[in-house]
Amino acid sequence: MSLSDSNSTKKSRREDIDADWSDMAGHWRIRPDTCYLNHGSFGLTPTAVVKCRQDWSRLLDEQPMDFYLRQLEPAFHNARDELAGWLNTESKNLVFVENATSAMNIVAGSFPLEPGDEVLLNNHEYGAVRRIWQTQCDANQAKLVSAHLALPLETHAQIVDSLFAKVTRKTRLIVVSHITSPTAIIMPVQEICDRAKAMGIAVCIDGPHALAQLEVDLSQLNCDFYTASCHKWLCAPLGSGFLYASAPNHSRMHPINRSWGRLLPAIPERWDEEFIWMGTRDPASFFAIPAAIKFMEKVGLESFRSRTHWLATDARKKLLDLFKTHGQTPATRQWYVTMCEVPLPESCWPACPDLQSRLWSRHGIEVPVIQFEDRWFIRVSYHLYNTTADTEKLLDALSGELKIR
Ligand SMILES: Cc1ncc(COP(=O)(O)O)c(C=O)c1O
Repeated sequence: MSLSDSNSTKKSRREDIDADWSDMAGHWRIRPDTCYLNHGSFGLTPTAVVKCRQDWSRLLDEQPMDFYLRQLEPAFHNARDELAGWLNTESKNLVFVENATSAMNIVAGSFPLEPGDEVLLNNHEYGAVRRIWQTQCDANQAKLVSAHLALPLETHAQIVDSLFAKVTRKTRLIVVSHITSPTAIIMPVQEICDRAKAMGIAVCIDGPHALAQLEVDLSQLNCDFYTASCHKWLCAPLGSGFLYASAPNHSRMHPINRSWGRLLPAIPERWDEEFIWMGTRDPASFFAIPAAIKFMEKVGLESFRSRTHWLATDARKKLLDLFKTHGQTPATRQWYVTMCEVPLPESCWPACPDLQSRLWSRHGIEVPVIQFEDRWFIRVSYHLYNTTADTEKLLDALSGELKIR
């Protein structure tokens, strides 16, 4: 089914009426035994985007020489131009990498750190990102500093002030998620970039959750680095990520697995050309990114955001009612869009370590139950294939598992 065949046009869809979105699930192939409330961890790819990736892979499989010698570079440039336009940056600032992790490793491997320098992040950062920077700081006798952003949060100023309270004369870089993984909070990255710039501190934004949930305008943000995986909310295939670096950083950025850069006899002359040929591989996932952008734009990004924010907010309210706990941020689109997190009551904590696996094995529900610091939370994610029936199923399962009503 194509989006234009959908029985309701995007104009007529109301955010709170499941029936207006009933055609949407048909754009994904979701295993029938699964209630998927975890698009935030690994997004499901719409069938139109899967087909695009398969078509590119077929071209490669059927004639690798022709593909690599004559089709690879034009396809790389076309896909990159589309993504760069969508992110409002110049193509030469962007390279494809497998995922946000690869991009972050490249930034860490290239960022100049001297003994005594400090890299600042905060307690809501992704664990693997923290590991990457701890390793890099240790290797350079630099210090990893973590600001503590205490929950609940009421204003963005609280975040910015707590972060900058940890800045010293030695702070060289701030690493911050655009949307945090363990707490699903939108961070005020524009304010952080503006303030850091004024102090001569570089900023690296870890952005996999932000693509499609938010409008990402890289020119406006004016950060030094932006790392992302496109497989989450943008719905590109797994294995499609990018690294953005601002022009002053280009000359020192290199792939981790350095290869020819381009296909011989061409030789790389600019930083971004080093990333075209990083050894023999299937780049089909990169070339399917434009199909994902097209898919989301056809639905309408604003429709997607308002519908999924409505679903997430409805779930948050019902979960808070069930748990008798309190939201950790205001319930507005300044704080979350498609994904939100709800604290479990202390009385349920003993049951939490295996709650996620029981929700799957007994109820077919995929949803992460997360320990953040000394408390337990449930993080619910909504994409266009979800409906309130998924929320009701989750509420039912939680009531039974935790013996609460
Ligand atoms: C905030 C954040 N950063 C980085 C990553 C790593 O992404 P990937 O595994 O696609 O490299 C994730 C993954 O969920 C994430 O949520």
